[in-house]
Amino acid sequence: MTTRRDFSRTSLAALGAAALGRFSMPPRHAWQDVRVNGDRLNSHLKALSAFGANPQGGVSRVAYSPYDKQGREYVMGLMRAAGLTVAIDTAGNIYGTRPGTDAARKPLWFGSHVDSVPEGGNFDGPVGSLGAIEVAHTMQERGIRTRHPLNVVIFQNEEGGTVGSRAVVGELHDADLDLGTRSGKTIRSGITFIGGDPARLAAARRQPGDAAAYVELHIEQGGNLDREQLKIGVVEGIVGIGWWDVTIEGFSNHAGTTPMNDRRDALLAFARYTDMVNRVVTSEPGRQVGTVGMVMAFPGARNVIPGKVQCSLELRDLDNARITRLFERVRAECVKIGEATGTTFAFESTHQSASAMCDRGIMATIESQARVLGLSQRSLPSGAGHDAQHMAKICPSAMIFIPSLKGISHAPQEYSSPGDITNGANVLLQTILALDARS
Ligand code: HGY
Ligand code: MN
Ligand code: MN
Repeated sequence: MTTRRDFSRTSLAALGAAALGRFSMPPRHAWQDVRVNGDRLNSHLKALSAFGANPQGGVSRVAYSPYDKQGREYVMGLMRAAGLTVAIDTAGNIYGTRPGTDAARKPLWFGSHVDSVPEGGNFDGPVGSLGAIEVAHTMQERGIRTRHPLNVVIFQNEEGGTVGSRAVVGELHDADLDLGTRSGKTIRSGITFIGGDPARLAAARRQPGDAAAYVELHIEQGGNLDREQLKIGVVEGIVGIGWWDVTIEGFSNHAGTTPMNDRRDALLAFARYTDMVNRVVTSEPGRQVGTVGMVMAFPGARNVIPGKVQCSLELRDLDNARITRLFERVRAECVKIGEATGTTFAFESTHQSASAMCDRGIMATIESQARVLGLSQRSLPSGAGHDAQHMAKICPSAMIFIPSLKGISHAPQEYSSPGDITNGANVLLQTILALDARS
């Protein structure tokens, strides 16, 4: 039966679909009334937060640490309980798969990551990972068979530069494997530690067309939804990120006998550098951000002028060209700072990920499913990097955001409410089912 409400929904969606692309509003199906088990999802999140729990209430579950491995094992157990077949690819990504009813269809991918930054929170990554497993579990319990195979993916080492998803799209190179990580291991030994095989990395690669779509549920990590009291964010695009290791060389000398005008103080140069990065990044209008988040001074003694500093530079924007332009300006300013302080600056690029726009068709699907669920929403860009930006190179990709309290993330105070998490998982469930029905 078509009620007036159903009809208006359908025609709105048809208009949206005409404007936005390939997915259109489905007729009403029985599965539209299916909901995830929010209590189970939230209790799984609580259990996962024990692996690497720190006294501040967050986690330090950096990739390739023993806690990361334990968390991954817990997650693989949840996948099995959800009826998924578990495998680890040669890059160390975890896959939980389930066949579809139509052998000709490519799998629908959805998932996130479970590694954290040092002293991070309990929601960045786990919400989308355990939310995806809960979606599969719900389908299993309700006997819902999809035409597409399903692939719940937990990408490894997202926080160390989206390492696992870069392997999937063929952008993790042998030289990258020797980079160090916060676990103390190189990426190469870390991948071995979590059950991958870095010597056969190419086997983890997927080609364009190998996946029907990728959808990632995630916390916003910014304050838009919380401030505006909205429940769902439909992500428009994900920023590009540039990372550089910066080495400042001066000269270590006696702090008592070296006159002030005869010093080559690398830490003084660093102080001017940090201020300059902020000035350059804020000198033009836009949403670009720049951060100096790491510093070590050598030799690190009260009575020695620091002769060397190792630090970082991170630049982010939705416009990749702007990142390049800002970097060139920073580098030019460093030459001036070097001349004034008797130091030199060297930059080594350690990670560059291009920005990506989300698929308009899947965005329209997320939007219509959130509407059917009665959840307020808006579209917004992502200032955080995500595996979805790499997946966008091989398949239509999109993201669903839920509110982060006060926009806090990458900190122990990170928080999303159980109700918001359940809402997000329901939007993911309905989005996957809608994509399965239509594409
Ligand atoms: O750093 C990031 O933007 C992400 O959370 N990995
Ligand atoms: Mn993060
Ligand atoms: Mn994340």
